[in-house]
Amino acid sequence: MEKIFYTLTQRRLRTDAHIRELTASVKLSHKSFIQPLFVDEALITPRAIDGLSNVQVDTVSSILHTIEQDLQNGIKKFLLFPVPAQKQEHSFDFTFAVSVIKHIKQQFGETVWLAADLCLCSYTTHGHCGILNESHTKLINHKTVDVLTRYATQLAAAGADCIAPSDMMDGRIAAIRTQLDVLGFDDVSIMSYAAKFSSQFYGPFRDACHSAPNTSGLKSRKSYQISPFNSNDAIASALRDEKEGADMLMVKPAALYTDVIANLKQQTLKPIAAYHVSGEYAAIESLVEKGLANREAVHTEVWAALQRAGADIIISYAARNAKAWIEQIEY
Ligand code: PBG
Repeated sequence: MEKIFYTLTQRRLRTDAHIRELTASVKLSHKSFIQPLFVDEALITPRAIDGLSNVQVDTVSSILHTIEQDLQNGIKKFLLFPVPAQKQEHSFDFTFAVSVIKHIKQQFGETVWLAADLCLCSYTTHGHCGILNESHTKLINHKTVDVLTRYATQLAAAGADCIAPSDMMDGRIAAIRTQLDVLGFDDVSIMSYAAKFSSQFYGPFRDACHSAPNTSGLKSRKSYQISPFNSNDAIASALRDEKEGADMLMVKPAALYTDVIANLKQQTLKPIAAYHVSGEYAAIESLVEKGLANREAVHTEVWAALQRAGADIIISYAARNAKAWIEQIEY
């Protein structure tokens, strides 16, 4: 019988790790990563977070140690979530967040780049991201933007390098940018949570920040966060934030929304940040814990997906492992 020869077309470039590495269209670097940090005023010792292995809620003093370790692992950029001890409905007090930023900046100065999350959900008694009406049925946009703008200027004055508004109110980017500029904080950047979806994947985070909505009035965040069923709203919100002065545009969650990242990439020249959120991270970690996936390989596979889609910046709970894991990637 005659022997049939098949011509190799694509497989030649898959022959060994050298040629796969050489021809990879995506190459990751830990330099694109931001590590989230939690600090809770009420804690005396650091607290583990259910589902988030290798992440803890720090105290004001343990946060310095956490950052020190992260710096040793090559991570210099952070996104800070301050959790105050006292919850309020109005008249919020931002002195704790301000003191944490000062504390970090005093210790590390310009060695670290510090973005501060800007939201009220860990401040409010009801866990919503802003100020509710008396009957707790509606979130009032303009009142919330006023408070957030005041908060943003305090964070900037304390030394934050970047403000990251995650509240999803309309008009907040313009209001914050204007006020920062008026006060001379024109070099403080804004990373807008521009396409932030109303997601089930924020569970472990809400545990860390005590920020799950808990009122008999407004039960969910659907009247301000974007519906997973509406990508047009996500693109429109992101482009609106760009016009209002956002320097970086975030898509969140990340891995389930790579269509949004890819679509937005076609329409903006601003850097896009993909936030691989707590529930996405926890889902992957649970595969790993069950022995069903290799930790380094599965996380780097997700990061590659985000970068393929068009993300320039990756916010990940495993940022602190990025350098070591990326070095070990088997292409
Ligand atoms: C606050 C905020 C949330 C996250 C970041 N900022 C939670 C929420 O909107 O309920 C989620 C981050 C994560 O899950 O990792 N508005």
